[in-house]
Amino acid sequence: MDNCIIRSWREKDAQVITSHANNRKIWINLRDKFPYPYKVSDAESFIRMALEENPEVNFAIDVEDEAAGGIGVKLNNDVDRVSAEVGFWLGENCWGQGIATDVLIAFTDFAFKRFELTRVYGFIFEWNLACLRVFEKAGFTMEAILRKSVIKDGKIIDQYLYSKIE
Ligand SMILES: CC(C)(COP(=O)(O)OP(=O)(O)OC[C@H]1O[C@@H](n2cnc3c(N)ncnc32)[C@H](O)[C@@H]1OP(=O)(O)O)[C@@H](O)C(=O)NCCC(=O)NCCS
Repeated sequence: MDNCIIRSWREKDAQVITSHANNRKIWINLRDKFPYPYKVSDAESFIRMALEENPEVNFAIDVEDEAAGGIGVKLNNDVDRVSAEVGFWLGENCWGQGIATDVLIAFTDFAFKRFELTRVYGFIFEWNLACLRVFEKAGFTMEAILRKSVIKDGKIIDQYLYSKIE
């Protein structure tokens, strides 16, 4: 994808990323720590946290020279340190162009090397058909359905577990 890069967060991304993130259709598919309504102060504290991380694990998805979403990994410790969970989101005006699929492929390749991983995995809420499709198109394999494993928006739902092995 020519118009899209994955890059470090910048403090000046806060305003524009808030306009993308403040969307219930995004919040409904993410953990509750992703706020809704999403305020500029939420973006500012998230970006500050991302820039202080060592190693850096959270990155901006930049579409046409503007931050339009985020992607990151949650690293594990001890014997699980070769596995990491990937998570991502994209502003609604960018959906349906294959961006998330391309970004997930490129970021997973990067993460395998950068963090010396053998396995990258993601959890997807049962109603998130677009995300299931993204993981499939990016070459991930469905490993499990975690039945009734989360509560989101007051509903107990299943999660799908997808993984890719280096
Ligand atoms: C999931 C998300 C990242 C997808 O981004 P995107 O750039 O639109 O994804 P892509 O264009 O690469 O692929 C989307 C695929 O889902 C399909 N899709 C979209 N809505 C769908 C639906 N309701 N039912 C079935 N398939 C759907 C598209 O047709 C496309 O598949 P195709 O190429 O076979 O036609 C974006 O919708 C998003 O940020 N959602 C909110 C946050 C989120 O869900 N994050 C991921 C958590 S696991």
